[in-house]
Amino acid sequence: MGSPRSIDPRRMVRIADNTFEASEARTILFQDALCRTARPGQYLMIWVPGIDEIPLSLSMIDHNGLSAVTVKRVGKGTEALCGMAGGEYIGVRGPYGNWFNLTKGRVAIVGGGTGLAPLLPLAEALLELGSEIYFIAGGEKKEDILFLQKISALLTAPKHSLIVTTEDGSYGRQGTAPDGFKDVLKEHELDMVYSCGPEPMMRKIFDLTEEQGLQIQVCMERIIRCSLGLCGSCVIGRFRVCKDGLILHSEQLREVTDEFGRFERGFDGRKTHFN
Ligand SMILES: Cc1cc2nc3c(=O)[nH]c(=O)nc-3n(C[C@H](O)[C@H](O)[C@H](O)COP(=O)(O)OP(=O)(O)OC[C@H]3O[C@@H](n4cnc5c(N)ncnc54)[C@H](O)[C@@H]3O)c2cc1C
Ligand code: FES
Repeated sequence: MGSPRSIDPRRMVRIADNTFEASEARTILFQDALCRTARPGQYLMIWVPGIDEIPLSLSMIDHNGLSAVTVKRVGKGTEALCGMAGGEYIGVRGPYGNWFNLTKGRVAIVGGGTGLAPLLPLAEALLELGSEIYFIAGGEKKEDILFLQKISALLTAPKHSLIVTTEDGSYGRQGTAPDGFKDVLKEHELDMVYSCGPEPMMRKIFDLTEEQGLQIQVCMERIIRCSLGLCGSCVIGRFRVCKDGLILHSEQLREVTDEFGRFERGFDGRKTHFN
């Protein structure tokens, strides 16, 4: 994995645009010198003035100077950010965390929900490297799938494939992202697997890679508050996800199999079973 850099200057950044992305999800575009140097898999702490500071993955890095986060409304912070218009200001800290190690070869990218956000810049970087990509994007229904058109437009060459899974069968293959991944495993040999999404989903993907002797890099999302390795809210095993991750690889995940995808920590630090 790439090494984390220590960047903590807080700055106010002007929103350049706020565009529709998918059901309940908006992409917030802005210009920021530090974000132009970010790597796929890194995240920001975004302060929504007067509301809260929330962690969000970079979903676009330096497209003609613009970077972006893609945010789904789930509570008051995300609701307020989704409602902000071009010309308004947000606070930004970061980019934080390590980043995906890019593999030139045959790779599977498996994402679900807002976990697709860091996988879009990853796919762009892997394409640039000449990798062959099997992209599996999952959601409950078609409207939930982020970046459907953007990913399709990236993977036009015949060597790549995009498999969309929906649980209600409204688009693509009916089932879950791990079902789509199993289909890929039946037909292709892989050099690397990347995943981001709900932790129980990533656990299923990890277990499949272990059965097949494959390497995986997952982008973990736990409760992140300080983002500096200080508060402990993001702990899994001996790792502080905010600094040691977000990207954890197979060897690290083997150390936390009792917890990974099985237990989460709440805001009070207590462990509870994933639903
Ligand atoms: C590293 C990381 C990257 C993320 N990237 C994205 C992204 O690209 N797009 C996206 O839509 N969402 C992303 N999230 C989730 C996003 O941070 C939460 O949805 C957001 O913080 C919720 O804030 P709220 O005020 O709207 O909701 P609240 O009402 O405060 O919380 C709703 C739920 O969101 C989760 N949540 C709240 N605060 C945090 C927090 N500080 N850290 C983690 N989870 C929290 C909890 O499950 C909580 O129950 C990411 C989370 C992490 C940890
Ligand atoms: S968020 Fe505080 S230690 Fe990771």
